[in-house]
Amino acid sequence: MISDPSLDLVEGDRVELTVGAPAHGGHCVARRDNRVFFVRHALPGERVTAEITERHKGYLRADAVEILQPSPDRVKPPCPYAHPGGCGGCDLQHVAGDAQLRWKEDVVREQLRRLAGLTDFSVRVEPLPTATSPSRISGSVDGAAEGTGSAAPAPDGGRLLGWRSRVRYAVDAAGRPGLLQHRSHQVVPVDRCRIAHAAIQELDVLTHDWPDAGAIEATASTGGDVAVLIRPAGQGAVPADDPTDAAAHGGRVRVSGPAEVTEVAAGREWGVPPEGFWQVHPAAAETLTATVVELLRPAEGESAWDLYGGAGLFAAAVAERTGARTTLVESSPLGCAAARANLADLPTIEVVEARVETALQRRRVTGPVDLVVLDPPRAGAGARVVRGIADARPRAVAYVACDPAALARDVATFRDLGWQLTTLRAFDCFPMTQHVECVALFEPAE
Ligand SMILES: C[S@@+](CC[C@H](N)C(=O)[O-])C[C@H]1O[C@@H](n2cnc3c(N)ncnc32)[C@H](O)[C@@H]1O
Repeated sequence: MISDPSLDLVEGDRVELTVGAPAHGGHCVARRDNRVFFVRHALPGERVTAEITERHKGYLRADAVEILQPSPDRVKPPCPYAHPGGCGGCDLQHVAGDAQLRWKEDVVREQLRRLAGLTDFSVRVEPLPTATSPSRISGSVDGAAEGTGSAAPAPDGGRLLGWRSRVRYAVDAAGRPGLLQHRSHQVVPVDRCRIAHAAIQELDVLTHDWPDAGAIEATASTGGDVAVLIRPAGQGAVPADDPTDAAAHGGRVRVSGPAEVTEVAAGREWGVPPEGFWQVHPAAAETLTATVVELLRPAEGESAWDLYGGAGLFAAAVAERTGARTTLVESSPLGCAAARANLADLPTIEVVEARVETALQRRRVTGPVDLVVLDPPRAGAGARVVRGIADARPRAVAYVACDPAALARDVATFRDLGWQLTTLRAFDCFPMTQHVECVALFEPAE
């Protein structure tokens, strides 16, 4: 009989550990007595006392509750709610800014090694420019590419805090608002969220109760609009930090602000309903569009697909350069309506309201096509969609990915179909959290 070596440790027990490398999920890995521990609130190389928070077959989760030998990269968390048992929204408040970039580089590299067999792929995570007050229609996509590549990173406090333009506060059964504990439905009351955009921190939504609300959603757009929506209680759990989930759209009640906020990116103004998808970091839409254009090098006359297209950010940038047929596929009716309205001046773009996998399977979009952009939710595209893309024989594919594990699985599928990952850019679109955004270029192998 195989005995479970973790049976003798239970939740609440404490154990001394030397902490190893960061792993996907916002924690570091530690090993002791043939056990594997995923330790939050720790840094590589630290000696800590860890308290067991969850026991699983084959591994334990733990929080570093006492730091016996600190890493030189450890800092005092700027947020008072970022500690074991506190708010679970941030994973890296205790990590210095540069070390957060290195942490994410390690995670992306490890996912590519473990899931795609790429043993020596070099990865650099680039900081985004600090959020500044918006100027309407500021510069072109190509100009932004130069800007983001060479921008000197602002001092840590400026870059790491005050960036989150969409915040979902949880509300408990008694109507009290706050943020969720890590891997829990427990609501932690907070006075404000330090990573939230300044305009969201100024709202008074956390000073009173919200009977009958399940969540409060605040948006501060790059065009200067602020909107507050509530999600009525009893609509089921929504992942607190996954705005890419199409199922999370709809069902909200507007409390304040316009029905449509204005975003400014890639040389255009965009009308987006606050409950619709838009990139969360104020500099992300500009940076990602510039990177997609830089990697794909769209040429006049080339046809394109923008899969998981949202309001049409990438479709517009590509179609403006090709002047040719561009098909955007998006499953959310809200996203499609926004795309149709925002892209009305670009007649070569067709918006198809469908799930990407269904659209490819039922041949609502058919190849051949020259260029593909895809920007799936956290689960990634999956083998069926990757096969559909490869079958259309594009010249190049730009894959925008918010989960490096899902990306790495899709890298393996592309490779099995004869495609090569030729360039990878990575951006710190979510400072203080474990999340990282990658843009990968795939081209047919020689
Ligand atoms: C990460 S967002 C990208 C949106 C857009 N590319 C942008 O940057 O603004 C993913 C989008 O995919 C949509 N989506 C999710 N699952 C989908 C599916 N199976 N098929 C098509 N669209 C989907 C979501 O509604 C969301 O708009």
